[in-house]
Amino acid sequence: MSKFQRPNIQRMQGYSWGEQPLDVQTIKLNTNENPYPPSPAVTDALSAFAADSLRTYPQPTADALREQIAELHGLSKNQVVVTHAGDEALRLAVTAYVSPGGTFAGTDPSYSLYPVLAQIQDAQTFNIDLEANWSIPTDFAARASAENAQLTCLVNPHAPSGRFTHAEDLHQIARTISGVLLIDEAYADFIDPEIGYSSREFVEQHDNVLILRTFSKGYSLAGLRLGYLLGDQELITPILEKTRDSYNVDAISQSLGIAALKDQTYARSTWKKVREQRQLLAQQLAALGWSCLASEANFLLTTPPSDSIGAEAIYKTLKTENILVRYFDHPRLNDKLRISIGTEKQNQILLKNLRRFSS
Ligand SMILES: Cc1ncc(COP(=O)(O)O)c(C=O)c1O
Repeated sequence: MSKFQRPNIQRMQGYSWGEQPLDVQTIKLNTNENPYPPSPAVTDALSAFAADSLRTYPQPTADALREQIAELHGLSKNQVVVTHAGDEALRLAVTAYVSPGGTFAGTDPSYSLYPVLAQIQDAQTFNIDLEANWSIPTDFAARASAENAQLTCLVNPHAPSGRFTHAEDLHQIARTISGVLLIDEAYADFIDPEIGYSSREFVEQHDNVLILRTFSKGYSLAGLRLGYLLGDQELITPILEKTRDSYNVDAISQSLGIAALKDQTYARSTWKKVREQRQLLAQQLAALGWSCLASEANFLLTTPPSDSIGAEAIYKTLKTENILVRYFDHPRLNDKLRISIGTEKQNQILLKNLRRFSS
């Protein structure tokens, strides 16, 4: 590696992304994609897209899409910035709100990209361990504030456990934390609607909250790379006008994003199917002696029976049979597997394969 790297870049490892096999035969339950295809309206918009329009730059701030997103959440366009998926949203938040040498806070475990982004920014990461039941400790905001955390990221529903944190607990953290709180809602589309979770109220009630959303999971568009941040206009404007690349969202993504959002009926039908499959898979895993944490996301964090060959060996065996699930070599996670919810057929093939690991 080049000696010209900045020292913090030299020291860091980089993010380990999940395996992305090219063949379509693999049952891919490792990176939490939606198992159902994007809306037919997206296919239509892609076919109708005029290649000639690629000759000119896209609309720099993706305004038509921002309007659509704002309408969906009952907010104004000034409270929205569109990004090259959730990962860019996170990077932009770190760039705008964490100084080199400053502190970024989160929980352990959490999305493993967060500390990587802090390292790129040459910032410190302050991680607070989740409680044994995976909840956020009640003194979380006080501890993050005592470390002068400029930006804190919490995932809801949490990744990789799927645990849902009630909005009121997050409002309480937002009220008491000294820096910016980013609530990463990458999986929020899969929350049971009966819970009545609302992103809008965070934006309306706090001037220090950013909400991250992505099209990768709920809208079946992980390959497109499209996401957004919601927040108070004062928080959004520095990202929109200063730290973002001028043309961070290409013309095709803007057009397909609008098509996907407009077809809420279709998107919601896939979320419902995922929720139904989630419940079924959790019950069937439990029947095989696998324990599952309650999840409001499109995955389950599950522990194989104690007399089985163990999570890592099961992950490796499944891989030889073209079934990919996620194994994390990380304390608290290395006896577990994170399994994305697949179609009914994929889940049944998985379960058939898992039967042999139970006595
Ligand atoms: C917790 C969490 N946040 C954000 C993302 C970013 O997703 P994307 O960059 O595809 O929008 C992911 C992706 O897996 C994630 O798990």
